Amino acid sequence: MSIHPAIAPGNVAVITGGANGIGLAAARRFAGMGLKVAVADRDRDQLALARQALGEGHLAIETDVADPASVAALAQQVAGQLGPVAVLMNNAGVGRGGDVLAPREAWDRVLGVNLLGVLNGVQQFVPAMVEGDAPGLVINTGSKQGITQPPGDTAYNVSKAGVKALTEGLAHTLREQTGGRVSAHLLIPGFTYTGMIARHLPQQPPAAWTPDQVVDTMLDGIARGSFYLWCLDNETSREVDNRRVLWSALDIVEDRPALSRWHPDWKDAFAAYVKG
Ligand code: NAI
Repeated sequence: MSIHPAIAPGNVAVITGGANGIGLAAARRFAGMGLKVAVADRDRDQLALARQALGEGHLAIETDVADPASVAALAQQVAGQLGPVAVLMNNAGVGRGGDVLAPREAWDRVLGVNLLGVLNGVQQFVPAMVEGDAPGLVINTGSKQGITQPPGDTAYNVSKAGVKALTEGLAHTLREQTGGRVSAHLLIPGFTYTGMIARHLPQQPPAAWTPDQVVDTMLDGIARGSFYLWCLDNETSREVDNRRVLWSALDIVEDRPALSRWHPDWKDAFAAYVKG
């Protein structure tokens, strides 16, 4: 049985942030399944390596996802050189935005890439997928931080909470407009050893997954028909993740302080809740 009707030999996949990490692992996997892959990234050196790794019949295109004109040019080049797009993975991302009082430029950078970059990808590629009659698959990369909101990098959390809301809305629209022919999914990686992490940690920590493990989980979830493609790592179990998600939701239901998980008066109650 196929993973998804859009994942078929000869079909076209576009992956932003595809020159490194999770995006590159997905690009290799789709290429290995016979798809024609276009990786889009702003990292010229890594793009050259990705082009080599993918080989003939694939494209590596310099793109800034935060710039609508650059994503429009990407869509045109892919349509002209490879054909209609069946699989779209909006995955490019950056961290280190900072808290609410961090400089405005840091917020613009993180929201521009992580949230508006996803919107740019969706608006440039999805209308043609809806108008056609072929199966389509859209995967947007979010983060657990967009759901549980740990303090520290609030700009990143906001961007990923936005990706969750955007992708939930997209899934609904596509269900209404295409009856499931084109589907949208939210990829939620755990701690994964990629360029983003390697910049701070030179060696893979035991807690981290590899990008290939994330891609395995992503494809398993799509094959099951899941919307939330929830990944683990070597540190946190699904049960603990579930309790963290529920605790966040219960902050509202039980009228607790914001981010009570990190509030001194609630720390112990949270620890007991997670233990079950
Ligand atoms: P990575 O740093 O290896 O890959 C991200 C890629 O995005 C890089 O190739 C980078 O050049 C590209 N990129 C950044 N800004 C861009 C722009 N404006 N236009 C085009 N490309 C741009 O990092 P990783 O971990 O593979 O990240 C992939 C996605 O996974 C990101 O959205 C990230 O937020 C998300 N994620 C990663 C986690 C982790 O632990 N590594 C955990 C949760 C989510």
